[in-house]
Amino acid sequence: MFFAKTLILAFAVSALALPTGDKPQKRAGVLTAASYADFQVSDGVAGSALDEVKAKFPIDFNDLANVDPADVAIIKAARLTAEAAETDAGGFNDAIDAAGSDSTAGEALQVGKIKNKVLKLELEVLGLQIDQAQGGKNNTAKIATETTKLNKNIQLDKDAAGETSQSVDFTGDDSA
Ligand SMILES: *[C@@H]1O[C@H](CO)[C@@H](O)[C@H](O)[C@H]1NC(C)=O
Repeated sequence: MFFAKTLILAFAVSALALPTGDKPQKRAGVLTAASYADFQVSDGVAGSALDEVKAKFPIDFNDLANVDPADVAIIKAARLTAEAAETDAGGFNDAIDAAGSDSTAGEALQVGKIKNKVLKLELEVLGLQIDQAQGGKNNTAKIATETTKLNKNIQLDKDAAGETSQSVDFTGDDSA
């Protein structure tokens, strides 16, 4: 496995030739490639994780059928990286083990891990919803399952509102 020093979600911004005719025009991309350090939401305090995620990925949440393909690619890659930041070497699970879950540092990392789960699950649900809106895939069952997990973690984040949240200095892995 190849570990990049700084994870860049590489993608090509292409100026797609727009089809003429009466097809609705796709939105231009609004997201830019970023490292995990830039799109993670685990610093600060608990309580507003979902809003923080949406602020980092400011697509038009009311028009998922027209999210730009480059934005979709960023959302999906970011979801995988957020998941890796939880479970891979150097991620939250490792950091919590190292700090000790009862320590002050370990508690802040656990708050940060919940915020990271909100990040991961919101991006996953978005990806599923976009694929359903754009590709005609029936993701209904999966969306329901992942939304249940997302809502559980949004509630845990709200329950911990105001508590210190600590991120991990995760460098990530950019191989597919
Ligand atoms: C989509 O999947 C859900 C859950 O599996 C099912 O209830 C529904 O009938 C499906 N819809 C279509 C249009 O196939």
